[in-house]
Amino acid sequence: ATPLMGATPPMGWNSWNHFFEKVTDADVRATADAMIANGMRDAGYVYVNIDDGWQGTRRADGSIQSNDRFPDMKALADYVHARGLKLGIYSSPGPRTCAKFEGSYGHEEQDARTYAAWGIDYLKYDLCSFGGMLSKAGNGDQSAPAAFALQQEAYRKMHDALLATGRPIVFSLCQYGMSSVWEWGPQVGGNLWRTTGDISDKYDRMSLIGFQQAGLARYAKPGQWNDPDMLEIGNGGMTLDEYKTHMSLWAILAAPLLAGNDLSKMKPEHLAILVNKDAIAIDQDPLGKQGDRVSAVGPYEVWSKPLAHGGMSIGLFNRGELAHPVTANLKELGISRKEHLRDVWAGKEMSYADMFTATVPKHGVVLLLIHP
Ligand code: GLA
Repeated sequence: ATPLMGATPPMGWNSWNHFFEKVTDADVRATADAMIANGMRDAGYVYVNIDDGWQGTRRADGSIQSNDRFPDMKALADYVHARGLKLGIYSSPGPRTCAKFEGSYGHEEQDARTYAAWGIDYLKYDLCSFGGMLSKAGNGDQSAPAAFALQQEAYRKMHDALLATGRPIVFSLCQYGMSSVWEWGPQVGGNLWRTTGDISDKYDRMSLIGFQQAGLARYAKPGQWNDPDMLEIGNGGMTLDEYKTHMSLWAILAAPLLAGNDLSKMKPEHLAILVNKDAIAIDQDPLGKQGDRVSAVGPYEVWSKPLAHGGMSIGLFNRGELAHPVTANLKELGISRKEHLRDVWAGKEMSYADMFTATVPKHGVVLLLIHP
């Protein structure tokens, strides 16, 4: 049987959002060191994931080599493992990755064996150049039945190859939300699948992606998560209120929490958002239920997520351009005055009201953790 990988949404770091294809072995080691020094590892961030850009050429026997920026992958994995962390890597079912590096097409079993031998714990498998083959198969339509079958087959192939290595490796599908990947991701062994195109470090993009996740809750469960892309917290393009919205929304969505900034140079206020205990507890709740939108009145939205202890988390979001009161009907949500209300970002207890109203800053959030 497949071991249950990702019983809660994966937490860690990924190189792409800050380092892009220029990431080096030294960056990854510095990241691992920073995660220990700044408390992120102890807060639950354990995967250190190398995204696109590590690949070199193939040897005569077809086996993949890392490039000059990664002189020794096995040694890097040992370094990361010795610190109680796990190492992730990236490839594509196509011949080329999105940044035009070597993909795994025709080398799936061989690459899976190489990853296992290095000590890899996580693979992000990104459609990229395989998209061209799908277009051909479907005469331009990537969701035509022939193309549809082809993409599922490609992902299943890599999953089976990973499984055959005997090493537990989290399998992350990157499909940019195409072809309703949430409907077939579990069948091809995916532990998570990208439900959207790429995020960027801007409120408009982050919020568009995050709030678009409404309706996908029923596809998520332990070991099988919707992935609205990696975090941008700390990369500098958003305000603190916007980054709190990012973290709150991802927590309510039971999304993977993969930091995407330079951890060795981060500001304490950004670190505080990433390691907030309540936000992490909401995301990592063992019930494994993704939250969803409860109401939207213009730009004022209320979202909720049920939690294992019988309580729930409620997010009051203001997508508007001015501070404004946002109201959650707690009574209708089944919450009584016997329950405890905690304002996660203010770090204080709140008192119950049937109609709970808070003034929420522009692009901001009031995140409540409610427990019996
Ligand atoms: C795609 C993915 C990104 C990143 C890049 C790497 O755009 O969606 O997350 O992995 O490829 O090239």
